[in-house]
This record gives sequence, structure tokens and C-alpha cells, in this order.
Amino acid sequence: MTDNPLNLGLESRKEAPPFVIFIFGVTGDLTARKLMPALFSLYLKGMTRFKVVGFARRDWGTDGLRERARGMIEEVPGASDEQRETFLGRLEYLQSTFEDPAGYARMSEYAEGYANRIYYLSTPPDSYRDIIDQLGRHGHGEQAGGFTRILIEKPFGRDFASAQELNQLLARYFTEGQIFRIDHYLGKETVQNIMLLRFGNGMFEPIWNSNYVDHIQITVAEKIGVGTRGGYFEGAGTLRDMVQNHMFQLLSLTTMEPPNDLSAQSIRNEKVKAMQAVRPITFRDINEHAVRAQYDEGIVDGAPVPAYRDEDRVSPDSRTETYVALRLFLDTWRWSGVPIFLRSGKRLLRKVSEISVHFREPPRQLFTNRHPAMNRNTLIIRIQPDEGITLNMNAKIPGHTTDMRPVNMDFAYGSTFGEATLEAYERLLYDAILGDATLYPRRDEIESSWAFITRVLEGWRRDSSPIPTYMPGSSGPEEARRLIASSNRKWRKL
Ligand code: BG6
Repeated sequence: MTDNPLNLGLESRKEAPPFVIFIFGVTGDLTARKLMPALFSLYLKGMTRFKVVGFARRDWGTDGLRERARGMIEEVPGASDEQRETFLGRLEYLQSTFEDPAGYARMSEYAEGYANRIYYLSTPPDSYRDIIDQLGRHGHGEQAGGFTRILIEKPFGRDFASAQELNQLLARYFTEGQIFRIDHYLGKETVQNIMLLRFGNGMFEPIWNSNYVDHIQITVAEKIGVGTRGGYFEGAGTLRDMVQNHMFQLLSLTTMEPPNDLSAQSIRNEKVKAMQAVRPITFRDINEHAVRAQYDEGIVDGAPVPAYRDEDRVSPDSRTETYVALRLFLDTWRWSGVPIFLRSGKRLLRKVSEISVHFREPPRQLFTNRHPAMNRNTLIIRIQPDEGITLNMNAKIPGHTTDMRPVNMDFAYGSTFGEATLEAYERLLYDAILGDATLYPRRDEIESSWAFITRVLEGWRRDSSPIPTYMPGSSGPEEARRLIASSNRKWRKL
């Protein structure tokens, strides 16, 4: 270990090996918001033997990249001026288009002295093909005396066929062990805790099944609209943007069987089994199981906000959904007959990501109808904000009464552990540098979630009825309320 070992709060963390990371699309928004701050933060924690090469088309030059990166790391706390300058000194810029073979031929010169190489694809997805092909043709997939890894941002494909095609292209030049597909939800501490909560405690797993669980809800709600990302979002929609990846990851972690051990292989085996068990929605009954909607114009925090169709770079007759609700079933022994409700949308009442497991009611004969306030016991895993876990149960109201009302038992990450949780990208980058793929979805996971999603997309494509709308700042469309009400349940309050 060095004098300044990485302290990521993880016992098994090793020292990072020296490496060079090429960031394709370094001029983009993700580098500024996430990658550069994450790399700098890792540097501050002791990861010192590395070099960053920005690969992009614009005429920035190394000085230009360093200058801009200074702003990108400005808000990372706890750094001296000297540390900032040393870090910036590690950055270099390789100017090239993504199609030009000459750019790829020059990469070796930039990687001089580094046997370990990482390629980070943070470009619009229509450049992936060129970049992967060029990397492969120039022999950059090969591993000689060190490792070579490729990290790919979402969206990973736009349907089953294109995801499969991208996987095939990657497989031509890289082994599965070299490929790291990013889903930043897996970098979140609270998402990793789902598995530990389930399998690190004796009391949950015995009741984590259809004998005791009435239903499950998974919510990823956002308050913001599409903002400046209208161009991207218009071609994606919530089903592709949030459900195929983030929500399906939450779904598989919540419903999977216990893995044989904590290796990446075992965990991914169980996750993929859960995804493969999701019952396909047929075209015929799509409207019974899936709701899509778009936000209308309205008022948020006292200010007018435009309808989705009036957003920048969005078609005025767009049929792209900004909200999705689904009712799913997993055809497994454990989850037989248990409905799982998923909802995600933009411009909703507030930002909240959570998983709630709603347990069956106790027999009511002791209480009859005098206790309409009696709730189903609910375990709520709060992914964000306000990270923690809540157990909702019924308790007697004090006094001369047998009346009850629901009360909460709370665990909050902030007050219990008293330290900020690691930023998702920091954790994910570090894992990739160490070669730990546990928090990266495997090829078959991606393809099985796309297999399900593609049927829904196809069902919607065939349906020309008007897209429902919902008010900004609301809990979603009336159609979503009806979807869950038809199963005699209701959504948790946002
Ligand atoms: C991204 C989506 O993957 O996740 C965005 O492309 C969305 O549309 C974002 O806003 C939400 O992430 P988080 O971490 O803020 O919940």
C-alpha cells in the first residue's frame, strides 16, 4: 500500500494499478458533471498513478482541456491548489473525429509507459460503432502485459436487436471480462444495500415471497422536465431511459434468489434469472399492464413550465412518453401471483426513488371495520433522497382506546453513518479500474431486459390512441391510478 491508501470504506479495496484512461466525448456534459469530479476525488483519496486522455473532435488542445477541467473539479471539496494543479497536469487532449483512423493510430503514443488501458465511451450512442470498430482494428482491444477495459455509457441499444448488435460488435474485439456497461444506479450505496439488507439479515428473507408479500412497488420519480436534453429524450422516452436499465436493476436486486457467493458471476447469474422470469406483456393486453403519458403545461414552484411537446427539440406532435407505469409478474416459485408495480416519470411532484414491499394483511377478525386506518405493513427502501429504510406498521394510539394508526420505524444513512455516501461514478470507476464487474450489468442481463421492453415498445407502436397527459407537479396520470386500482391497491404517496 502507498502512504496514502484509498479509503473508500470498503475492507477489500486494493490499491489501484497504474493506468491510462481515454475518455471519448470528453467535451460532453457527463465528463464535466461526473467523470472529472470522480477521477479527481479518487486522486485525492490516493489513486495517483494514472493519466487521462480526452479524445474528441473539438479544437480544445491539452491547455484548453486543463483549463475547462479546472472548472469541472472546482466543487470537489478538501483539495489544495497544489493538488488541483497536479491533477490537471495529468490531463492530455487527443483531437480527432471518431471515424478518423489517424486518431486511433496516435493513441499508443499517448499511452506510452502504461500497460493498463481503459476506454470510456461517453459520446452520443451513434458514435459507438465507429469507436469500437476503430479501437478493435487498431489492436487496442488486445491485452499485452496489462489489462484493457472498455466502459460504455447508456443508452446501450434502443431495442433488443440493436443491443444485441452492439454486444456482438464488442465481442468481436473484447472479451466479456473486458466490457463494463454502466448503469449508474448500481453505483448508488442504497442500491447496493438492497442485497445486503435481504441476505445479511435473518428476518427478511423468510417472508420475502408470495406467502407474505402482497405486492411490490418501485418508483423513480423526478421533479425536473427534460430540460436541455429534449433532442436525446425525444428519441428515447422513459421506458428506454429509465425502465430498461435503472428500474430493471432495482427489480432484479429486489426479487432475485440468494447468490451462491458474492462474486460478480454468481450475483449476475441470479439477476439474469430474475429478469428472464418477468412475464412478457402481450400486444393484446398491453393497455391493461402498461401506461404511458406525457406532461402537460402547468405551474411548478410558482413558475409556468411548458408541456413536453413544447420543449426545445421535441416534436409538437411527439408520442414519446415522459411517464411509464407497469404491472409485472415474475413467473417464479417465489413470486407467483405477486404483482410488481413500476412507475417512473419526469415533472412529478418531487424527486424520489424507492422500493416498497407491501406485506399481506393480518386476519381482521379482531379489528373488523373499526380500523379502516390499518395499513399493510410496508418496508420502504429509500434509494434517494433521504437515503434509508422505513418499516411502516400499525400501533395502538395511547389512551382508553384500541384504535391504531400507522407509524414508522426509520433508519437514515445520514444520521447513522454520519458520512456522505460515495458518488456513484466514483465507486463505479474505481471498481472498473480494479476489474470488479459486480456492479456492471452483463450481456445477458441487458438483452433479457431489452427483450421485455421491446415488446412493450412494439405494442405501443401499434396503438395509435392519444397519449394521456398529466399535470406538472402531480403524482402522474389518472390512467396510472386506474392501473393499480384495478388490482385493488394504490400507489404510495409521492
Ligand atoms: C439518467 C437518465 O440515466 O438518470 C435521466 O438519462 C435521469 O433522464 C437520470 O434524469 C436520473 O438519475 P438520478 O441519479 O438523478 O436518479
